[in-house]
Amino acid sequence: MNIAVAQSGGPTCAINASLAGVYSAAQKEASIDKIYGVLNGIEGIINDEMVDLSEKISSDVNYQLLLRTPSAVLGSCRKKLPDHREKSEIYEKITEILRKRGIGMFFYIGGNDSMDTVAKYSDYLRCNNIDDIKIIGIPKTIDNDLCETDHSPGFGSAAKYVAATVQEITRDSNVYSIPSVTIIETMGRHAGWLAAASCCIRANGEAAPHLIYLPETTFSIERFLADVKNEMKKHRAVIVVVSEGVKTAEGKFAAEEYQSGQKDVFGHSYLSGIGKFLEKLVAAEIGCKVRSIELNVMQRCSSHIASLEDIQSSEAIGMAAVEAGISGKSGCMMTFVRESDMPYSYRIDTTDASKAANSEKFFPREWINEEGNNVLPPAYDYLMPLIQGELHAIMKNGMPLNFVI
Ligand code: F6P
Repeated sequence: MNIAVAQSGGPTCAINASLAGVYSAAQKEASIDKIYGVLNGIEGIINDEMVDLSEKISSDVNYQLLLRTPSAVLGSCRKKLPDHREKSEIYEKITEILRKRGIGMFFYIGGNDSMDTVAKYSDYLRCNNIDDIKIIGIPKTIDNDLCETDHSPGFGSAAKYVAATVQEITRDSNVYSIPSVTIIETMGRHAGWLAAASCCIRANGEAAPHLIYLPETTFSIERFLADVKNEMKKHRAVIVVVSEGVKTAEGKFAAEEYQSGQKDVFGHSYLSGIGKFLEKLVAAEIGCKVRSIELNVMQRCSSHIASLEDIQSSEAIGMAAVEAGISGKSGCMMTFVRESDMPYSYRIDTTDASKAANSEKFFPREWINEEGNNVLPPAYDYLMPLIQGELHAIMKNGMPLNFVI
């Protein structure tokens, strides 16, 4: 039997570690012959674009580089499959290509939209009594918004980058004697996990971030200005972290006028711009020195500060997916089940992919203060284990080496 693995959705620092895990476990499995890497997610199946991974990951050095390389080395896509009951051609095509290449197991590494693909294709297989092909979802997303799993591979590294960067920005913001406001915008679409992760710097005695705004509470411009003025009485350099997805009471993105209005194939708005919007607001309404910083894709590709815990567990969940496939599972998503915060321990399990598809796990309201402008200590217990440890880069000419297909 041959197998195939693909990557989908927004990239992370750890999605290649899960790919490495699939490859490593599959290589040791006597019943598996070829391990195909599919280019650009499900599109690569439809277009029959695959590489033989053992030709690419040909040495231990390459494997080590793969673990340390951000992005998605196989390329990604954001493609929504139709309902197979209404339109089955694409499913027939996928099945035809998989069979042509003798692929009996397909591993799809992705977020909630990708689990939609896993759930739909597995339903197609079931409805058509096809049992020679299995599909298994492996979670990933910096947003940490996947349901059914304690956390998502890729989040720990992004959280570590956000926290460390907010700490560095806090140092920089404190150099002048004049009052200032610095606004840092994080990704995270509808869930505030990444913005909340900035609180980890308090473990080292930082008072910042003084304000943290998440999409899980209603954002009000008036309240924001009042909060900033209030913090300015206590701190010369006020540090604000805001999630790209904060919404007003009407349910609109707070900086809607800064959005392009475009949506991706899953109907998600292309976000970003709230930081700039708030910067202009503070300049106009308060008139102090103000700067906004959009962390943008750096939070999902800054592998120089990846979390070792994240990379190792992402590799482990990839390995476990192969075991799950060998044991006969299909239509499932791999999950982390936390057993303890301190000392941190977890086990890997599976859940039905349809439970994770198209749904979102939000930052718990009870971990946010009553004012809705900061996070509370239970968040640290959850977050701290996920950002532990460092995986040092393999350097060449003074720069990290990456693995490229
Ligand atoms: O998939 C997660 C994510 O990084 C979100 O946090 C962000 O809103 C979105 O992807 C950005 O998508 P794209 O890479 O398509 O611009």
